[in-house]
Amino acid sequence: MTLRVALLGAGAMGTIMARDIYPRLAGEVEVAAVVDRHLERGGPLAAGLGATAYVSLDAALRERSIDAVDIRLQHAAHSAATIEALQHGLHVLVEKPLATTLEECYAMIAAADRAGLTVAVAENYPHLAAVRATRAALASGVVGELLTLRSTRVYTLEGVWANTVWRQGDNPMAGILWDQGTHHTSMLRAIAGEVTSVAARSSSRLATEGAEAIMLTLQFESGVVGQSLYCWGAPAVELETEATAFGTSGRVEITVDYEGGRGLARFSVPEGSRDLSAVESYYDSHRLIVEDWANAIRTGAAPRVGLADATADVEVVVAARESLARGGAPVALWEVRTP
Ligand SMILES: NC(=O)c1ccc[n+]([C@@H]2O[C@H](COP(=O)([O-])OP(=O)(O)OC[C@H]3O[C@@H](n4cnc5c(N)ncnc54)[C@H](O)[C@@H]3O)[C@@H](O)[C@H]2O)c1
Repeated sequence: MTLRVALLGAGAMGTIMARDIYPRLAGEVEVAAVVDRHLERGGPLAAGLGATAYVSLDAALRERSIDAVDIRLQHAAHSAATIEALQHGLHVLVEKPLATTLEECYAMIAAADRAGLTVAVAENYPHLAAVRATRAALASGVVGELLTLRSTRVYTLEGVWANTVWRQGDNPMAGILWDQGTHHTSMLRAIAGEVTSVAARSSSRLATEGAEAIMLTLQFESGVVGQSLYCWGAPAVELETEATAFGTSGRVEITVDYEGGRGLARFSVPEGSRDLSAVESYYDSHRLIVEDWANAIRTGAAPRVGLADATADVEVVVAARESLARGGAPVALWEVRTP
C-alpha cells in the first residue's frame, strides 16, 4: 500500500526532497500535503508533486488522509513537530540533528514509546555504502585492529544553505557543530562504536565573518581515540576524503561526493589499493532513508537510524559544546546525560 506523507518544511531541504527524491519513489510513497508556514514556499513544491499546500499540519489533516510526516524544519523545531505528529497517530521521519537539547530527545523517545509508531531519523552517513563497507571490512578483519580514525568536514556555507538566518550568528542552534556534528558522529560511531568522552577546541582568531574551525578529540568505548575536524569558511573540494580509519593491516578512506556519484570506500596498503564499495552520490542516501523508513513502517522492523541512535549523536555534540565552554577540558558523556 502506498504510504501517504505530509512533507513538513518547504525550505532548502524540503525542496530537495520534493524535487529530487519523492518523484523517484512514486507508487511506494505519495506526498499528499506540503506544509510550510510560508504558503508561497509550499505551493510550488506541492504543485510539482500533485499535492496540496497547507500552512499547518492541523489544516492538512482536516482535508487529507495522511499516514506519516517527513519533518524538514530547522533543528530547534524537530522535537515539537515530532511529538505533535505522534500525537496525531502519524509515523515520523525527522531531520538531523534530532534536537538541540537532550531533554527534547528524551521527550521524543517517550512520545514514540507511548504512540507505538515508527520514528526514523534522516542521518545519512550510516546509509552510505562506503560507511557500511568500512564497518564490514573492520568486522571481518581486513583492516586489522583499528588503531585510530579521523573525520574532516570542511566547506563554505553558501547558496541555499546560507539563506537560512537560524544557521548563522548567535542563534542557539547556529554553527557547524549543530549542522554537521551529528552527521560525522554518526559515521564514526558506525565505524568505531560508542563514544565515551569528547574534548573540543576551536580556532580563536578567524578573520572571516561566519568562519568556524573546531577540532574534537573523541574517546571511544573500545579504547580507540579519534578526531573530527569541522570548518566553515575554506572552499570544499570536488571529492572530499571525509574519514580515514587506520588499522594494523591498512587504512580505509571514505570519500563523499555531493555533486556527482563517485563517493566510495578505498582500502590501501603500501603495495596498492582496492575499492570496498560501489560508487555513490551522497544525495542518493536521502532516497535510501525514505525507503528504509517506509519499509520499517510496513514491516515493523527498526529503521536503520532510530531515536536512540540519533540521541547518542546529539550527546556527543552537547558534550563537545560543554567542552568548548570549559576551555577544551574533556567531558564524559555521562556528565551531559540527565537521568
Ligand atoms: N541530512 C542532510 O543531508 C541535510 C541537509 C541539509 C539540511 N538538513 C536539515 O534539514 C533541516 C532544515 O534545513 P533547511 O536548510 O531546509 O532549513 P530552511 O530554513 O531552509 O527550511 C525550513 C522551512 O520550514 C518552515 N517552517 C519553520 N517552522 C515551521 C513550522 N512550525 N510550521 C511550518 N513550517 C515551518 C520555514 O518556513 C522554512 O521554509 C535542518 O534541521 C537541517 O539540519 C539535513
